[in-house]
Amino acid sequence: MPTNLLEDLEPVVADNLDRHLAIAQEWHPHDYIPWSQGRDFAFLGGEDWDPDQSQLSETAKAAMFTNLLTEDNLPSYHREIATRFGRDGAWGTWVGRWTAEENRHGIALRDYLVVTRGVDPVELERARMDYMTSGYDSGDKTALEAVTYVSFQELATRVSHRNTGKVTGDPIADRLLARISKDENLHMVFYRNIVAAALEIAPDATMRAIADEVIGFQMPGATMAGFRRNSVIIAKAGIYDLRLHHDDVIMPVLRHWDVFDRTDLGPEGEQAREELNAFLTALDQQATTFVDRREENRARVAAREDGVPQDIVAG
Ligand SMILES: [Fe+2]
Ligand SMILES: [Fe+2]
Repeated sequence: MPTNLLEDLEPVVADNLDRHLAIAQEWHPHDYIPWSQGRDFAFLGGEDWDPDQSQLSETAKAAMFTNLLTEDNLPSYHREIATRFGRDGAWGTWVGRWTAEENRHGIALRDYLVVTRGVDPVELERARMDYMTSGYDSGDKTALEAVTYVSFQELATRVSHRNTGKVTGDPIADRLLARISKDENLHMVFYRNIVAAALEIAPDATMRAIADEVIGFQMPGATMAGFRRNSVIIAKAGIYDLRLHHDDVIMPVLRHWDVFDRTDLGPEGEQAREELNAFLTALDQQATTFVDRREENRARVAAREDGVPQDIVAG
């Protein structure tokens, strides 16, 4: 990455910060929480959590738990971007503003889950302690790689929150998660615009960063307790899966950057684009295989469930 790229991008960051501040609407986590459902736990003479108290399905529990813990690790993400983008000028202001907006997500999700007794608060707290202690480390990403990664990651979080809202079966949770998703979308737009400008300034280096970040993409929760189990549940329910990752996260951003039709690449940029194309073809195939298998499984489960009354009738 050209060493002055951060400086070159500063005016673009300043413009996008202004644009963001002009369109971001103020909202308050407390408005979205059904406080009337809350009551004391045993420590204060009430009743401790019991699985029967939760109105959420196992799928909704897994998704809410994962989404909240992901938001909880904000200090790590702050460190990740603050060390790369710096604390000065528009970059520094953005880092602060973004951190404040993200903190709202963890506050709101925790308030909702504790008040409605949606998940075990003891398990949740232990997992939070554990996950925050280990922290999140993206490795040795450059600033260009980091801003590219978060363009996809913010959109992935948007999709995941939005679809989690739909599976909760609770209009209150759905509204809260839709509100959070709006924030994530604006974050994505901010980062996406910075990368678009980087492509104009340094097309080859930026194309390399794009290829590497798409090929190596991982959600930040990989070190979280139960992550593997929960991500399988989340994928099976269609909250976040390979098809959504390819169609609704990676491709729209790549198209916005005109990645496939750019004519300003040198040999290094072309090489990166070829690697990216090969990866996307494979990802698309994997997504198709995953969805086919999921449909087969669903059909099998449905057939089994349909079979139950038949057996009873026959018996
Ligand atoms: Fe968030
Ligand atoms: Fe975000």
